[in-house]
Amino acid sequence: MSSSIPYDEYSSGAEFYDWVTPYRARQDVGFFVESARAAMGPVLELGCGTGRVLIPTAREGVRITGLDASSAMLGLCRSKLEQEPEDVQQRVTLVRGDMRSFDLHRPFELVTTPFRPFQHLLTVEDQRACLAAIHRHLVPGGKLILDVFNPAIDRLAAPQTPGSWDEDADFTLPDGRRVRRRVRIVGRDLLRQILEVEFLFVVTHVDGREEHRVHDFRLRYLYPHEAEHLLARSGFDVEDLFSDYNKSPYGAQYPGELIFIARKTGRAPA
Ligand SMILES: C[S@@+](CC[C@H](N)C(=O)[O-])C[C@H]1O[C@@H](n2cnc3c(N)ncnc32)[C@H](O)[C@@H]1O
Repeated sequence: MSSSIPYDEYSSGAEFYDWVTPYRARQDVGFFVESARAAMGPVLELGCGTGRVLIPTAREGVRITGLDASSAMLGLCRSKLEQEPEDVQQRVTLVRGDMRSFDLHRPFELVTTPFRPFQHLLTVEDQRACLAAIHRHLVPGGKLILDVFNPAIDRLAAPQTPGSWDEDADFTLPDGRRVRRRVRIVGRDLLRQILEVEFLFVVTHVDGREEHRVHDFRLRYLYPHEAEHLLARSGFDVEDLFSDYNKSPYGAQYPGELIFIARKTGRAPA
């Protein structure tokens, strides 16, 4: 595990993040805001990005710290916060840091990881380092919400047409640029459970010029029982496992999400 802040792989597409149709349509904000309110104490969001979840949480009166490795994403979050009333701004602390090795010198009631930042950790060593840091930052009995996707075995096993793109709906930025986002899987390491993903943003400027921006990254998927064992090994008891943000239980749909509600135990990580 590296102790320095990782390369900012979000920088090329950060300015588009809040406009991307599937991100805008995510139905998770209410779930995380409600969980934060119920925590009755300070919340830490790891991989807070542009504040998509963090800002609505602070608006509801919750004190929240957002940690992210990307200065581009944090910069956008800061600009959005500046538009918020003073009391909302006061409740937020933003920190640039690596979720595998951070020390904020204060405890939290709840740690959250909305929209899969944990899947940017590509080795068990990195995952365990992150869970150990979370464990250290939680009050006794504090909670972790670990939000990852459930890998669809049939999709992973299906033969793929190399280089085939999926496309989202276009969107227009306030300055008039038109953006089409395309996505493709460029590599699958079935042994290490790593997908190599490429986003291509095709940007049409107001003068008609076309620009291509690439955001590529790797992510690691976790199987449900693997994640459960990882949490147990890291000093957490799983209290609930949901398959969506309406709290449908695991198994209610396939593949669905894997939303673990885990409580810090008195056991030190093994
Ligand atoms: C998909 S975004 C999620 C952002 C936000 N939580 C949301 O729900 O919109 C993942 C975020 O994780 C951050 N991230 C990735 N690896 C990280 C690391 N090692 N430490 C801290 N943040 C990281 C990225 O910079 C990015 O902002």
